[in-house]
Amino acid sequence: MGVMHIPGHTHQRPGEVSLEEIRSLMGNCQLCELGQTRSNLVFGVGDPHARVMIIGEGPGKNEDLQGEPFVGAAGKKLDALLGNAGLTRDEVYIANVVKCRPPSNRNPRPAEIEACSPFLREQVRSIWPDAIICLGNFASQWVLKTDRGVMSLRGRLHQQGHFVVLPTFHPAACIYHSEWQPLLEEDLRLLGAWLREHPAGEA
Ligand code: URA
Repeated sequence: MGVMHIPGHTHQRPGEVSLEEIRSLMGNCQLCELGQTRSNLVFGVGDPHARVMIIGEGPGKNEDLQGEPFVGAAGKKLDALLGNAGLTRDEVYIANVVKCRPPSNRNPRPAEIEACSPFLREQVRSIWPDAIICLGNFASQWVLKTDRGVMSLRGRLHQQGHFVVLPTFHPAACIYHSEWQPLLEEDLRLLGAWLREHPAGEA
């Protein structure tokens, strides 16, 4: 089956389609082969009107079992780091580029990303955040429509249409590369400063 277009939803105004509707459109999604091996589809969690949306790569083992993004080791790290941007987990919305766990945590494949993209796109339109934090290469490349790696994209805010975008390291990468953590913290502080300078409603 090819890429699914969400019927009638491509020209909706931002915020017009609720997250519940998007979730129910996904149903028991089998648009890619990850549908065969997942335990749970991990749709996303958080404030549906968040100023800041966080996009990761894909569910890991714990996320797959619990049906919620960033609940494992990378999630604990993320929670601990969010304060650098003056944020808490409760006030953001968290989703992933692919909604089902790639077996053995392999990279998501282009066809899987493509199959899942309409749903993430609709989530972004529904939430219509001011800013998007992209954790790692897959999210950064998806949002910024680029092949460049996060190493060359990080360290500054990007503007992508309506959205201010912060591409930065994936917190799981910082578990293995502890030298990247101060850079991730620095990136989050950049966004924190932007959020303070652009109060809600004035962004
Ligand atoms: N890593 C991700 O990219 N997403 C999750 O939800 C968990 C770990």
